[in-house]
Amino acid sequence: GESVQVKELAEKLGVQVSDVITKLIGLGVMATLNQEIDYDTASIIAAEYEYAVEGEVSDIENMEELLEQTYNYVDDEADLKSRPPVVTVMGHVDHGKTSLLDAIRNTNVTNKEAGGITQHIGASTVKINNEKIVFLDTPGHEAFTSMRARGAQITDVAILVVAADDGVMPQTVEAINHSKAAGVPIIVAVNKIDKPAANPDKVKQELTEYGLVPEDWGGDTIFVNVSAKTGEGIEDILEMILLVAEVQELKANPNRRAVGTIIEAKLDKGRGAVATVLVQKGTLSVGDAIITGKTYGRVRAMIDDKGKKIKKAGPSTPVEIIGLSEVPESGDRMYMVEDDKKARYLGEKMKGKHRDAKMKEGQKVSLDNLFDTI
Ligand code: GTP
Ligand code: MG
Repeated sequence: GESVQVKELAEKLGVQVSDVITKLIGLGVMATLNQEIDYDTASIIAAEYEYAVEGEVSDIENMEELLEQTYNYVDDEADLKSRPPVVTVMGHVDHGKTSLLDAIRNTNVTNKEAGGITQHIGASTVKINNEKIVFLDTPGHEAFTSMRARGAQITDVAILVVAADDGVMPQTVEAINHSKAAGVPIIVAVNKIDKPAANPDKVKQELTEYGLVPEDWGGDTIFVNVSAKTGEGIEDILEMILLVAEVQELKANPNRRAVGTIIEAKLDKGRGAVATVLVQKGTLSVGDAIITGKTYGRVRAMIDDKGKKIKKAGPSTPVEIIGLSEVPESGDRMYMVEDDKKARYLGEKMKGKHRDAKMKEGQKVSLDNLFDTI
């Protein structure tokens, strides 16, 4: 690719060379006066002086692919250890997803939610007979399609909750489609069987039309009748989850740089950017340098789903992290990188790509043009 000398770049930008070198060092690039730097790096520097630069800036997808290849490398089979399953609870609004999780966790999250409607994917870890299961709750509201899609992507098993008194509804079908697209096995929880109007057989009948045929009807989909209210069937569904997960022989290498996915993130008044990340490979530790989406930082503190401060999080652990410079987006991939400088360098590069993508063509100038006009 094309490159430009540090000295030359400073000249064209009309700034001190020492200033450019300082900025480069800040990005983790040790450069001298006569050194050639690539266009990507030059564009970051130029952007810091409020120049929008067009050049050999590879697009966001290329950058994401590069990160994926560099940091989400494939592990040796011998390094893999079994990890807990990640289970996503999906289904139509009000069919009882959060209530089912409450019954599993024996807590009472539903009451605490504003208006009882789940806004985010909540993550929690449950221990059953000494085996851990990670649960992700998703909202059933029609506005949250992309959240359900993301939920399906990071999951090993999907629990499809269908209210026995209501039957198959639009978001039930959508959840089936997301799970199928992601190749995730579905366990059907026919919920609210305590209700007088409950008709579990009708639910079975309806789901057959979507390719989910119960085992007792000659198919291979596991159906469990449950009541999140009375607790009926809860033990059975947990058993089925462990069974389905066991067949998958889920494994990950805990002894490598962490890779994960942002589940949810927000700006907290006191703590700054707070993100819940599902660690999928490796171990994330306090002090690690990370990059995710168009933000980066260093893990200053980690809090588990029980609100406890922890120092390390291994594969299949949902954990809240503090220390990112900005709020990432749910679904963003998170990578642990070599050190702070590398995180800053890659993070700024990524930010530059997003900035470039946002800029209108008219506002863009290529480095060549820039050089011609100054
Ligand atoms: P969204 O997150 O908004 O999509 O809803 P949800 O699927 O999480 O449903 P939620 O758990 O909030 O339950 C909706 C309503 O159904 C609440 O009033 C629950 O008390 C009620 N409910 C859930 N499960 C059962 C059940 O097994 N039996 C009865 N009778 N009511 C239930
Ligand atoms: Mg809910």
